[in-house]
Amino acid sequence: MGCGIEFRLTHGIPDMLLPTERSEVEAFLTEYNAIRRAQGWEVTELEKLPYEGGAPAAYWRFRRRSFEVIREHCAVPPAPGSVALDIGAGVAWLTRWLAEWGYEATAIDVNIAPPLGLSGGNPCIRAGRAFNRVRAGIDRLPFDDATADLVVLNASLTYARDPAGVIRRVQEILRPGGRVIIADTPIYRTLKGGESMSRRLYRHHRRALGRAPIYHERFTYILKQSLFRYLEDAGFEFKVVEPAPDLWWRFYVLRNRLALREPVWMPVIVARKRDGGRLR
Ligand SMILES: C[S@@+](CC[C@H](N)C(=O)[O-])C[C@H]1O[C@@H](n2cnc3c(N)ncnc32)[C@H](O)[C@@H]1O
Repeated sequence: MGCGIEFRLTHGIPDMLLPTERSEVEAFLTEYNAIRRAQGWEVTELEKLPYEGGAPAAYWRFRRRSFEVIREHCAVPPAPGSVALDIGAGVAWLTRWLAEWGYEATAIDVNIAPPLGLSGGNPCIRAGRAFNRVRAGIDRLPFDDATADLVVLNASLTYARDPAGVIRRVQEILRPGGRVIIADTPIYRTLKGGESMSRRLYRHHRRALGRAPIYHERFTYILKQSLFRYLEDAGFEFKVVEPAPDLWWRFYVLRNRLALREPVWMPVIVARKRDGGRLR
């Protein structure tokens, strides 16, 4: 017997949003896409990301640093049939790398429309890259328990309503020994640092939209001690990898220190679902 809910294809992509989720997701996306448009977010050459083909250039310069860490941890060929989920994948630029590295990869996002949503990834599919796409929200992931070997949360965890719940759910979805990689997530050591960033972002988004943002709380940060506790409580062992600081990053940190502001902390966290083994 079915559940009585019909799921549809949107832009040819399985759309797993519940009818009750749709209107709020669409309203959030209207605001999200308007902000990103105002910030000049653009992908011109999907296959070349994160090295070329993305704007703003400074943003992608920054994303390259964490990508190198992700590559180091994921490009080692996985066992045949290993499953990777890229949650909050946007245009699925990283999903296509996961597929290239040998995973059966799936991109998951609520944003489906081009240019920044999942169907923005069509050029990769047309170029023969083999990965799946599913429209779903990070807070209600439609996957069975113990079915994934790798989950990537790349610049997406803080969009969750309940990051602790997401980490618990990811732990269930992973097979024993499976890994979650959390990257490019704005982490602050102090509430003061995070709130100060949040106020600056609010002003920036208000200027971009020409009105007060409605979904400001979705563009947020996470406290270091909270994130570590969520991972420990969910049964992960983890290590923190600092991407190599380039000149731009050093300049960013220095500028913030001079302004007596806490710079954001953006390490890559590699966590493994405990199975008695050590994290390598
Ligand atoms: C900063 S972008 C990161 C995209 C991609 N992971 C990357 O590394 O470039 C954040 C992504 O999270 C998605 N997102 C926001 N809220 C979400 C939600 N509730 N569930 C799933 N994805 C969400 C956005 O649509 C967007 O694609």
